[in-house]
Amino acid sequence: MRPEEKLGRELPRYREELFDFLRIPSISAQPSHQDDVRRAAAWIREDLERTGFAAELVETEGHPVVLGEWRGAGPEAPTLLIYGHYDVQPPEPLPEWDSPPFEPSLRNGRIHARGATDDKGQVFLHLKALEAMLRDGGSLPVNVVTLFEGEEEVGSVHLLPVVERLRDRLACDAVVISDSNMYAPGIPSLLLSLRGLAYFELRVRGPARDLHSGTYGGAVVNPAGALARILSSLHDDRGQIAVPGLYDDVVEWDEETRDAIRTLPFDEAAYRRECGAEALGGEEGFSTLERSWIRPACDVNGIASGYTGEGAKTVLPATAMAKVSFRLVPDQDPERVGQLFRRHVANVAPPGVRVEVVELHGGHPWRARPEGAFFEAARSALRQGFGELPVLTGEGGSIPIVPAFEEVLGAQVVLLGFGLPGSNMHAPNEWFPEAHVEKGIRTLIHFYREAGKAPLRGPRGKDPAPRS
Ligand code: BES
Ligand code: ZN
Repeated sequence: MRPEEKLGRELPRYREELFDFLRIPSISAQPSHQDDVRRAAAWIREDLERTGFAAELVETEGHPVVLGEWRGAGPEAPTLLIYGHYDVQPPEPLPEWDSPPFEPSLRNGRIHARGATDDKGQVFLHLKALEAMLRDGGSLPVNVVTLFEGEEEVGSVHLLPVVERLRDRLACDAVVISDSNMYAPGIPSLLLSLRGLAYFELRVRGPARDLHSGTYGGAVVNPAGALARILSSLHDDRGQIAVPGLYDDVVEWDEETRDAIRTLPFDEAAYRRECGAEALGGEEGFSTLERSWIRPACDVNGIASGYTGEGAKTVLPATAMAKVSFRLVPDQDPERVGQLFRRHVANVAPPGVRVEVVELHGGHPWRARPEGAFFEAARSALRQGFGELPVLTGEGGSIPIVPAFEEVLGAQVVLLGFGLPGSNMHAPNEWFPEAHVEKGIRTLIHFYREAGKAPLRGPRGKDPAPRS
């Protein structure tokens, strides 16, 4: 039976299984969910084994990595590495959800659940495309290695050593990742870039303990006020980041790429509605898409100090803290940005408080090479699955391990995502379009088939060699 027919027949079961997978609260950031994260890893391992993979959990100091291998295509065939993550972001704030985050619910053609798009739903598409091709005596024209991690949402801190240690088993011709969105409903996309990340916690300490703000206010420096001054120094009036040196390594994109971005259909009002924001803002001289795809950004992700409960309390707080992250573009380097940020904070912090900058995590930016057999295979597969050729887009989010795949494995990375804009990744009411379960699996089946026709890669680091 052709994989497509199998898909048609098994779709109701696939949907049940997807819901089972989404029910596991694999929240990597919360230690109380450690067992659940492991349960999600085991779920994938068992699924891969049923499909015919050799699969194992690779232990790390954090959550395990699920490594799967199917090498039935033989040494003459190309090898694909499929990467994804089975961990999810915390679902809070819970009252904002219309249905519980870990009880998947189908409403208006949308599967609502934490992880539905980011990234369990999309990992699942790969698992079922592989199953449709391999189960019951099927075959694949490519060898497949799968690498699913449980720490992407907390910075992939333990994955790099695993990739380095297992580089021989992970050797491949291309890496394929589905952890992003299409450009718009009906318009698939292939990613040209990802931004990097440099994430910090700012801790401001003033007096040894909270003080009466009447007795001491005006005479003792207030940490919350000091923090506000530091945070307000991060941008200038033209929307640029005001940390000296921050733009030194920023590569200006070529006019051709900027033109391509400008010609994408873009409805500013619809974008505003999608965010529920009254007005947009950012760096002068750049469009909204450019601001979020190819320019650096600096955001306060969280802030806390003093009394925030009901009513009034006259207090001069002893401490204040904020979480601050920078999104980076080529060729910015998270370490260098850290140095610049520390220096800037030390310069602008008012006397009378102590300020500490704690590094949380980081990742390098990435820019694609949008060419070659695997890229073409993805183009053709997306047309097959969605009836349209993909547009080339950037992405403002980060997938920290991506640059390492190119550096350590010397493989091309292809990012084809199946979510839709507004899918509420990281937010309440995350959803995935139900129709994209079938379309996504169909696309991937086609992609694996097409990838089987790609020329083999030469020795590591060299250009692809023609297949003999
Ligand atoms: N799936 C996202 C990356 C992404 C976001 C792709 C938006 C396309 C659109 C990924 O899971 C993610 O959220 N990454 C984090 C990385 C961080 C925690 C190191 C991010 O971008 O914040
Ligand atoms: Zn995410």
